[in-house]
Amino acid sequence: MVQFSHVSEAIKKLGTTVTLRGWVHRKRESGGLAFIIIRDSTGILQTATKKDAVDATSWKAASDTTIESSVIVTGKVKEDKRAPTGYELSVEKFENVGIAEPFPITEYQSTELLLDKRHLWLRSQKMMNIMKVRALVFRYIRDFFAEREFWEVTPPILTKAGGESGSDMFETDFFGTKAYLTQSSQLYLEAMMPSLEKVYDLVPSFRAEKSRTTKHLAEYWHLEAEMAYYSCDDNMKLQEDLVSYICQKVAKEQQPLLEALGVDKKTLEVVKPPFKRMTYKDALDYLKKHGQKKEWLDDIGAEDEKVLTEKEDKPIFISKWPIKIKSFYMRPDPDDPEFVLNADLQAPHGHGEIIGGSERISDYATLHKRIKELGLNPKNYEWYMDTARYGAVPHSGFGLGTERTIKWILNLDHIRDAIPFPRMINRAEP
Ligand code: 4AD
Ligand code: MG
Repeated sequence: MVQFSHVSEAIKKLGTTVTLRGWVHRKRESGGLAFIIIRDSTGILQTATKKDAVDATSWKAASDTTIESSVIVTGKVKEDKRAPTGYELSVEKFENVGIAEPFPITEYQSTELLLDKRHLWLRSQKMMNIMKVRALVFRYIRDFFAEREFWEVTPPILTKAGGESGSDMFETDFFGTKAYLTQSSQLYLEAMMPSLEKVYDLVPSFRAEKSRTTKHLAEYWHLEAEMAYYSCDDNMKLQEDLVSYICQKVAKEQQPLLEALGVDKKTLEVVKPPFKRMTYKDALDYLKKHGQKKEWLDDIGAEDEKVLTEKEDKPIFISKWPIKIKSFYMRPDPDDPEFVLNADLQAPHGHGEIIGGSERISDYATLHKRIKELGLNPKNYEWYMDTARYGAVPHSGFGLGTERTIKWILNLDHIRDAIPFPRMINRAEP
């Protein structure tokens, strides 16, 4: 049986013969010599096939192969300063597994074409590295919550009641009745909280927002958590710890990936508690001082977030928002009921909001009143209000957009590159 090596292992076996299974990344041929760079999930390696040194079948296979063909190559590993990564494989045997048709992506392509050919573009070094960071961020999130003894739960995706703004919901036919794709699992997490006390989930959320911005997706992966007996302050502390944990892990353990993606690990090393806190009022004052036109009760939009965070090195909290512009479930501040006990977390360097969180209303009468005040139909929230009816406890929670977090961590220009197959206002394919 042939033992296969990955590129990352092969370069540690100088002088020995290894067999790689990969795809053709680049190809150059002159005279009786073919330089073919092989890619696998661990890296790239230049291979050199000499017509004189291999049998006729291998030479034909190397000559015939094309960009993105799948290949199996055997040869001896050596150091070579001229090769792209400093190593080269002297080929003894070359075999094509699947010959690729002419690859539609060449060196300089429009963004539009790269999105149309996303399924193929995901093979690029850049996308491969981003997708690794994405997977690692998901892993670190789960590690963090496991260390803190949270339970991961799985809420429904099809729902009847929305938690956030109702107008931005994708409607679907549910056996002749209307249902919606979930915008947030929060209400379900709150319902599971009296059973498991500390819960989180990491599932898709859907927003039919007609926003064409660099930070809106129609389908994104939402990390949400809900904790019994957590105050708004406990909640913020947890978010600070979570975001710092992710950044520290990526900085410490993923140096080669960061380097490949051109990210300075120092930008992540500085992300440690405590984060700066400012109130909604402070934020408005700051924005007005920095040339933004703002009125009381205005939302803080994408441009404002940029102004607020571009000079920051660490995320900042914006707390204490007016009750009039926030969701029904947020607990009014008992000392100042015009405001709610909430905070949004804004990522630095202009990236903006990555988390929304708050303490929840746990009192049935207040909850019922707020649902009616906001013109929502209490009937749709009967089951949800049972959480307040049967053994209510103070509790808090938050939701973090994973793609926005990855966009910030890797300083990407656009959120679409933080997810393999982005769904945006004008795109649900491939
Ligand atoms: O601020 P949002 O709407 O809050 C909620 O959904 C709450 N129920 C969360 C909670 O308290 N459990 O969304 C939370 C986060 C935002 O801060 C943002 O990071 C992300 O979800 N998000 C989006 N990410 C990508 N594309 C979109 N269209 C997003 N909308 C929100
Ligand atoms: Mg928000």
